[in-house]
Amino acid sequence: MNISTNFNLTPLHTFGMETYTAAYTRLTQMEELNELKALKEQYGNILILGGGSNLMFAQDYKGIVVHNLLKGIKVIDENDKYVNIQVASGEIWHEFVLLAIEKNWGGIENLSLIPGTVGAAPIQNIGAYGVEVKSVVQEVYAYDIEAQKEIQFSNSECQFGYRYSIFKHPLTKDKYFITSVIFRLEKSPTSFHTKYGDVQKTLDEMGVKTLTIKSVSDAVIKIRQSKLPDPKVIKNAGSFFKNPLTSRFIVNKLLERFPDMPYYEVENNLIKIPAAWLIEKCGLKGARVGDIGNHDKQALVVVNYGNAKGKDAFLYIKDIQNTVQQTFGVLLRPEVNIISD
Ligand code: FAD
Ligand code: EPU
Repeated sequence: MNISTNFNLTPLHTFGMETYTAAYTRLTQMEELNELKALKEQYGNILILGGGSNLMFAQDYKGIVVHNLLKGIKVIDENDKYVNIQVASGEIWHEFVLLAIEKNWGGIENLSLIPGTVGAAPIQNIGAYGVEVKSVVQEVYAYDIEAQKEIQFSNSECQFGYRYSIFKHPLTKDKYFITSVIFRLEKSPTSFHTKYGDVQKTLDEMGVKTLTIKSVSDAVIKIRQSKLPDPKVIKNAGSFFKNPLTSRFIVNKLLERFPDMPYYEVENNLIKIPAAWLIEKCGLKGARVGDIGNHDKQALVVVNYGNAKGKDAFLYIKDIQNTVQQTFGVLLRPEVNIISD
């Protein structure tokens, strides 16, 4: 593998803060995985980079960045109803969604236009508009960098939760290089998820009479484009924080003070409060300090207007956390992976 030193990572992450890494290499072949253990020993640490759409570099990276460019998509099994497809981790997620739409394979149309790679999708169990990727993941193939062997995780072994999987657990985080994912998609589906937010309303506005995978995807794309900033235009990493999950008791206490607070019942008797609402209620929607701020159409998205520095962005997000905690007593936890000491 060719190694570049003191490499400029700025164009390779969507938040776009100027960032250098001590070393950088591209991984294009499975055989190269065997070199990772030695690289980790030589450079002290490894960061696997996909599309760079869920990362915030608060500072330069001191180890080696391994850019995942593993490619390949193959159908491994199918019957009248389902198709099992193995997709290499370096494939672009939305290109895979487009392929599924072209083939009329259902299950991931609500996850249209999410940036990044297929390999990163199971890591935080990407989700949008009422669907999470866990509903279609059959198996995850991962290379254990230390043990130098590939292993497989079944869906249940992935321990998927809201923006969570075993690959985010402190003991296993950064232990595995995900090499491919097997998805099970439905051939010619007849039922669709349209209940979340404005999906049905948007389909109605579009004049859709008969639902198809393509029409649901088009509606989701339309909604996303109306509120989420395109990283090519305004640099960002999507929702910066997770929506907090809390108890009915805490929600009732908060409702006494903030009767207009929205909330949603989710599984395990937990209640989800929209972090965007908490941030907006603190007056931070559209707020800006220098080149870092909260988007004016979606308060949960922190944006880099141009030349924000990682260390300033880090202080800015700490300020958001402190303000929300002082106002509501709720701690917002980052969804974005922050690279700092
Ligand atoms: P990266 O940012 O490159 O990496 C993220 C983390 O995964 C890092 O810790 C990295 O080391 C690790 N990693 C990456 N690839 C591998 C691998 N092959 N093996 C092991 N570890 C790996 N997310 C949602 O869930 N729903 C949304 O609706 C959504 N909307 C977004 C909208 C915008 C505008 C943006 C910018 C982001 C959005 N995201 C959303 C977040 C992001 O797109 C997802 O988290 C995506 O899966 C990240 O993929 P990536 O390849 O860019 O990962
Ligand atoms: N809201 C506000 N102010 C805002 C925006 C939203 O008060 O500026 C409130 C409204 O009450 C709204 C609610 O928040 O009904 C939820 O907003 P939205 O539907 O836009 O979704 P979100 O909870 O902010 C989550 C995901 C997104 C995903 C959307 C759609 C998280 C952390 N974020 O955002 O994922 O696309 O739902 O399903 O769960 C990402 O992970 O990067 C991401 C963009």
